[in-house]
Amino acid sequence: MSRSAHPAGPRHGDVLPEGHYAAPPADLNALDPKVWARTVRRETAEEGALSVGGVPVTRLAEEFGTPAYFLDEEDFRARCRDWRSAFGEGADVFYAGKAFLSRAVVRWLHEEGLNLDVCSGGELLTALDAGMPAERIAFHGNNKTAPEIERAVAAGVGRIVVDSFQELARVAHTAQALGRVQRVQIRVTVGVEAHTHEFIATAHEDQKFGLALAGGQAAEAVRRALTLDGIELVGIHSHIGSQIFDMAGFEVSARRVVGLLAEIRDEHGVELPEIDLGGGLGIAYTSDDDPREPHEIAKALGDIVTRECESAGLAVPRISVEPGRAIVGPTAFTLYEVGTIKPLEGLRTYVSVDGGMSDNIRTALYDAEYSVALASRVSDAEPMLVRVVGKHCESGDIVVRDAFLPADLAPGDLLAVPATGAYCRSMASNYNHALRPPVVAVRDGQARVVVRRETEEDLLRLDVG
Ligand SMILES: Cc1ncc(COP(=O)(O)O)c(C=O)c1O
Repeated sequence: MSRSAHPAGPRHGDVLPEGHYAAPPADLNALDPKVWARTVRRETAEEGALSVGGVPVTRLAEEFGTPAYFLDEEDFRARCRDWRSAFGEGADVFYAGKAFLSRAVVRWLHEEGLNLDVCSGGELLTALDAGMPAERIAFHGNNKTAPEIERAVAAGVGRIVVDSFQELARVAHTAQALGRVQRVQIRVTVGVEAHTHEFIATAHEDQKFGLALAGGQAAEAVRRALTLDGIELVGIHSHIGSQIFDMAGFEVSARRVVGLLAEIRDEHGVELPEIDLGGGLGIAYTSDDDPREPHEIAKALGDIVTRECESAGLAVPRISVEPGRAIVGPTAFTLYEVGTIKPLEGLRTYVSVDGGMSDNIRTALYDAEYSVALASRVSDAEPMLVRVVGKHCESGDIVVRDAFLPADLAPGDLLAVPATGAYCRSMASNYNHALRPPVVAVRDGQARVVVRRETEEDLLRLDVG
């Protein structure tokens, strides 16, 4: 197909999307540093192809194939250090492994001084196997199985975040049977739901996680935990949502959690030493998003908790947070090859790539927004309004709902979708028997596979006939 076969740019009468993509950006080749991993550049010597960690994507595609996730190791480590130094020695940062976990990631976290939050037996296995000290692991989940609890207690995890009355009894029972005393936090539902720029301060008890403050369940769980053998209640945990930019939700949450600490002190004469305010801090998926820096977040949370504790007459507890997306999200991009291009007159051009909802379910699942760039070269062609779609048998198989790409885009070009480090590989599926893509870490001119691509043998091995 010739490089000029597609109608250029949106024209009068075209159905334009709202928001960020309502108009094409001034320069389609420009890279907004907010949405790209820190070492991503355009290489003039390589027709303007993107590079990460000093390695051009054209070489990466040749060596590792597409689709593939490329993770900027230096950026990952730098973000770990940013969070660590922002919170300082008096607080703990637990990386939320659900965002993306592999043994290499566990080692980087360990080396950079972060703790780790896991929420399944599989994540716990990965963490322990890669050498994360058990006391630096927190174990989450609303329905931990008996074998999972046993594995966690036997390993000596630093804390189990208890999510129900049954689980409290199970953890106590398991710990007694193993002759241990397990440190636990109780996860409470504070009645706050926060997403992106909005939060709702009431009426969100209607969910599966946690024990509600409002109905007195949280206070009852504390009463029980303080009397059970095999358990040491060390704190209260709250997690209010995801992709949050506005600290107001955390403010309400911290106020309510500290309120519970004061009630516990009044009723039981005990001051719990820890609170965990969860994760959910937002990142930039498009240029419209303005995430906060870790030091601003640390200061805001520290100030809120200190103020609330002072007014309740409590010693300030040790604070912990659990960022997942905010650490790994911006450090990776997905590289795809363009397969087919279908212009729909007066609407937009559909660009199909060699992956889709099996490697990034977020757009289909919750209308997530992403950006995209032509990665294998620069172009001075006019902007063309596109929808980047996958190769799956599902019309909702959309990777990037609205974007502008150069009108000379052609099959074989490489596209890169930034900010896919979190909840993409970890939520990847084999839908349509797709082979899940590899995760390749790139640093200082070297690229190495940290999670290999699935093979056809992998597919057939599970299908026992
Ligand atoms: C309890 C808890 N902590 C931390 C996280 C991490 O959230 P994020 O990756 O948005 O920071 C989650 C995400 O669901 C969570 O449920």
